[in-house]
Amino acid sequence: MGKWILVASLLAAVALLSAEANHSPLVFIFGDSTTDVGTNNYLKKSLARADMPYYGIDYPGSKATGRFSNGYNTADLTVRALLKNGEKSPPPFLRLIRHPDTLKHNLLWCGANFASAGSGILDATGNVTWKKVVPLSEQISQFATARSNITAALKNKSKADALIAKSLFVISVGSNDFFDHQGAGDTTPPDTFVATLSQAYTNHLENLYNLGARKFGIISVPPIGCCPHERFLNGSGDCFDSMNDFAKAFYVSTASLLLDFSVKYPDVKYSLADAYNMTMVVIADPSTYGFKEVKKACCGIGDFNGEGPCNKTANLCQNRGDYLFYDWFHPTQNASTIAASILCDGPPQFVSPINFRQLALA
Ligand SMILES: *[C@@H]1O[C@H](CO)[C@@H](O)[C@H](O)[C@H]1NC(C)=O
Ligand SMILES: *[C@@H]1O[C@H](CO)[C@@H](O)[C@H](O)[C@H]1NC(C)=O
Ligand SMILES: *[C@@H]1O[C@H](CO)[C@@H](O)[C@H](O)[C@H]1NC(C)=O
Ligand SMILES: *[C@@H]1O[C@H](CO)[C@@H](O)[C@H](O)[C@H]1NC(C)=O
Ligand SMILES: *[C@@H]1O[C@H](CO)[C@@H](O)[C@H](O)[C@H]1NC(C)=O
Ligand SMILES: *[C@@H]1O[C@H](CO)[C@@H](O)[C@H](O)[C@H]1NC(C)=O
Ligand SMILES: *[C@@H]1O[C@H](CO)[C@@H](O)[C@H](O)[C@H]1NC(C)=O
Repeated sequence: MGKWILVASLLAAVALLSAEANHSPLVFIFGDSTTDVGTNNYLKKSLARADMPYYGIDYPGSKATGRFSNGYNTADLTVRALLKNGEKSPPPFLRLIRHPDTLKHNLLWCGANFASAGSGILDATGNVTWKKVVPLSEQISQFATARSNITAALKNKSKADALIAKSLFVISVGSNDFFDHQGAGDTTPPDTFVATLSQAYTNHLENLYNLGARKFGIISVPPIGCCPHERFLNGSGDCFDSMNDFAKAFYVSTASLLLDFSVKYPDVKYSLADAYNMTMVVIADPSTYGFKEVKKACCGIGDFNGEGPCNKTANLCQNRGDYLFYDWFHPTQNASTIAASILCDGPPQFVSPINFRQLALA
């Protein structure tokens, strides 16, 4: 017992030192399944889960961790590409709080991940389709708890504020709002719906700002109309146009809201990744990026393996490295590796006004 207390206090001391030294920024990650690293494993009722095979088949130990990928996802690979100590991306906050004795150490060491598969910008998104998700507003409340734990650990509010101001806030959200809009047969006109999301997104960002966030790495909505499920829904196998139109409109509205946000709060720095364009470039020219199959999912059932989820009774492809999509909605590890490299070091065509590496250094 005494030994563990000693270890715990050593860990705490190391964490405090590392927070004080000029160590890599902490990373706090928010959003949906594109960046969920296991949050939904802790939601017993949730149907949005990836804690069973064949998820994780290329993860160390072939472990299904809750990531919607054959291996690591974009959250992992972005943190790894960005930070020297980034061989591991921050763990789910819902796991960290189950270990109160190491919570502060973990928060100060790398940050936390709040992202929840199936969630969206609106509170109602995902809660019917997937029964239980953590909406973005609740993810931000959880960050408020994390922040109070960091402040308590450092025993100095101005030091904690400075640490949080240097931290990266990565957000990848919006797709599920559009999927729900489509699934529910919502007749709200597209422009009105995008404006509603944009207003809600602005409120979320202001709440994070009021909690001390200053550096925002925002990933916009990818061409969701081209995921295997939407190709199946189209029938002809081409992309579902109205969903791609949403993705494009969302990028434009997000670019404009971030510009306004940074004018209103001049100490805000941000980087906006155009997930639509960067993915379309790959779909238009797969072989340049090492892919052979950009329409069909590696794992799933039915047309394009896009009619049902990846699980142990689904089809599984042989050469996972050849595929852009792992399941009906999500990219493979290889695709996420390319995305992460563009987020961190890409040109303004894909990530602007600065990339994530410049944001981390800013
Ligand atoms: C973290 O902060 C919350 C809210 O202030 C508090 O209830 C909880 O006990 C803290 N956890 C630890 C381990 O300090
Ligand atoms: C979904 O969320 C909305 C908004 O929070 C709420 O009004 C509604 O009752 C929820 N529905 C379910 C099934 O939980
Ligand atoms: C709190 O941290 C600030 C900035 O690091 C430092 O200037 C100040 O002396 C610290 N206050 C206390 C009471 O240690
Ligand atoms: C399906 O794809 C075709 C192209 O083959 C396109 O013309 C049509 O608009 C698409 N349907 C929808 C609903 O997006
Ligand atoms: C896989 O998902 C399908 C739904 O597409 C379901 O019918 C089947 O029972 C699932 N298999 C397993 C092993 O969970
Ligand atoms: C692509 O996938 C293959 C097979 O999963 C793997 O061996 C290779 O390392 C991957 N390449 C990248 C860049 O992730
Ligand atoms: C995305 O691609 C479209 C069409 O090629 C182009 O008009 C637009 O400027 C691109 N966006 C960026 C940020 O480069």
